[in-house]
Amino acid sequence: MSFTSFQAPLLAKRLQGKVAIITGGASGIGASTAKLFAKNGAKVVIADIQNDLGSSISKEVEDIKYIHCDVTQENDVKHVVDTTMSKYGQLDIMFNNAGVPATRSAIQILTSDVEDFKKVFDVNVCGGFLGAKHAARVMIPAKKGSIIFTASAVSVTTGDAPHSYTASKHAVVGLAKNLCGELGQYGIRVNCISPYLVATPMLTNGMGIDQSKAEEIMSEAANLKGVVMKAEDIAEAAVFLGSDASSYISGINLVVDGGYSITTPAIKMALKAHFSNH
Ligand SMILES: NC(=O)c1ccc[n+]([C@@H]2O[C@H](COP(=O)([O-])OP(=O)(O)OC[C@H]3O[C@@H](n4cnc5c(N)ncnc54)[C@H](O)[C@@H]3O)[C@@H](O)[C@H]2O)c1
Repeated sequence: MSFTSFQAPLLAKRLQGKVAIITGGASGIGASTAKLFAKNGAKVVIADIQNDLGSSISKEVEDIKYIHCDVTQENDVKHVVDTTMSKYGQLDIMFNNAGVPATRSAIQILTSDVEDFKKVFDVNVCGGFLGAKHAARVMIPAKKGSIIFTASAVSVTTGDAPHSYTASKHAVVGLAKNLCGELGQYGIRVNCISPYLVATPMLTNGMGIDQSKAEEIMSEAANLKGVVMKAEDIAEAAVFLGSDASSYISGINLVVDGGYSITTPAIKMALKAHFSNH
């Protein structure tokens, strides 16, 4: 194999000819994914409620368009899908990524507020449900498509986030798996990506700290050392699940957490504390 032919697959645009909608694409993981999708040849529609941010990304990158869409409103979601179909004639990837955190008081059941619980479910679960429903409406006749949800590492752990947020991300994974069963009949794949902590505005605003402090804390708690997780790591996972490279992958929850969720530092920490005291 010549050097040139060996390099070719790495340089190929992995989403050439595909059309994608990314909810929550104006910021953080969604914005990073929109840019990586476009770089890989996709036409991208960002669906978000942050009009200024969404429009500025659209001005910056020719193949990214912005449409205002509150994912909790079915008419908004329907409008984004219909507008994308009229403009491009197809929808290959639906990335249901929009999400909101819970309030900090929701970490304990007795201080949890039911309105906060409902709001988190409305965006994180119902928003994804509406995205999947309207994507399926146009993907079923085409007999192909990739629907991706952003869940979270808290979909496979407990106690790391408030009850509403953790429960919402478990629900997202359940929804995706149930959809995988129905939509597989039509050649449509449905998967989740579950990130560990990424220092996006959701995290830094929620914690009231800047990006470097957030990354310092995340790295301290991380299993995988020597690398800091970035939004681009999730974008790469989304490109894979949206591309033909994953053409037989459906129903998975791709946990991108450097092994955090399958390791427990508790005994190490207890032993370290014990020996440092003796
Ligand atoms: N940052 C993390 O550590 C982390 C970890 C695991 C999972 N996640 C998930 O990743 C996804 C993206 O979050 P992020 O970290 O990039 O945060 P972010 O705040 O940077 O981005 C979230 C985006 O969702 C949009 N959004 C919120 N409500 C919406 C609505 N009703 N309709 C349309 N858009 C709406 C926001 O405007 C924002 O642009 C979320 O689902 C989040 O739960 C984040």
